[in-house]
Amino acid sequence: MAFIKLETARLILRDFRKDDWEAVHEYGTDLEVVRFMPWGPNTESDTKEFIKLSLASQREEPRTKFEFAVTLAESERLIGGAGIRVSAPADRGADMGYCLHRDIWGQGYATEAAGAIVGFGFEKLGLHRVFATCDTGNEASARVLEKIGMRREAHFKQDNMIRGKWRDSYLYAVVEDEWSESTGGQP
Ligand SMILES: CC(C)(COP(=O)(O)OP(=O)(O)OC[C@H]1O[C@@H](n2cnc3c(N)ncnc32)[C@H](O)[C@@H]1OP(=O)(O)O)[C@@H](O)C(=O)NCCC(=O)NCCS
Repeated sequence: MAFIKLETARLILRDFRKDDWEAVHEYGTDLEVVRFMPWGPNTESDTKEFIKLSLASQREEPRTKFEFAVTLAESERLIGGAGIRVSAPADRGADMGYCLHRDIWGQGYATEAAGAIVGFGFEKLGLHRVFATCDTGNEASARVLEKIGMRREAHFKQDNMIRGKWRDSYLYAVVEDEWSESTGGQP
């Protein structure tokens, strides 16, 4: 598959490049950013490994993991990452996630990026169902998933150990019929 680029009103989501690691490292080391995630806080080698794995997944055939750099269309600044992974190919199912630099939170960028990758999943990968999980304390993320048209399907009790503490998760999902009826969070 060729280098992928997804465009929204204000963002360009594109495949990661090797020289992206420093921009990723900025948010990957922020404890507030990684608070609800098993990912991070990163050492320099963790971030470089993350980029290395993302680059390796670009070469997979068939490709099942799509980890995109989220960049501002106007300035090309890398503000985060968003990914979708075909985790149940026989059922055309995938899971997705995202993580953005703290200094651009609250401007609708996560909603725009999440909507773009779910749209990519349905329209380009031919998926039937996309799901995401988020920590029950991560109200901003739950809101993003609701804004793009996902339904809360489950509350998992202590399914995640994050930095030594058991955490609960919500599971959100959307199927292709529902997606075609929604705006997918685009402005
Ligand atoms: C979660 C995250 C991606 C949200 O990014 P963002 O760009 O600020 O999201 P948006 O601006 O698109 O939307 C956030 C929504 O959550 C709401 N929100 C933010 N903080 C909230 C809180 N503490 N309680 C309730 N709602 C909250 C906002 O008001 C907004 O909803 P609205 O448009 O209805 O007002 C961002 O905070 C982040 O990267 N966090 C760290 C990584 C992470 O947790 N990733 C998700 C793992 S599941």
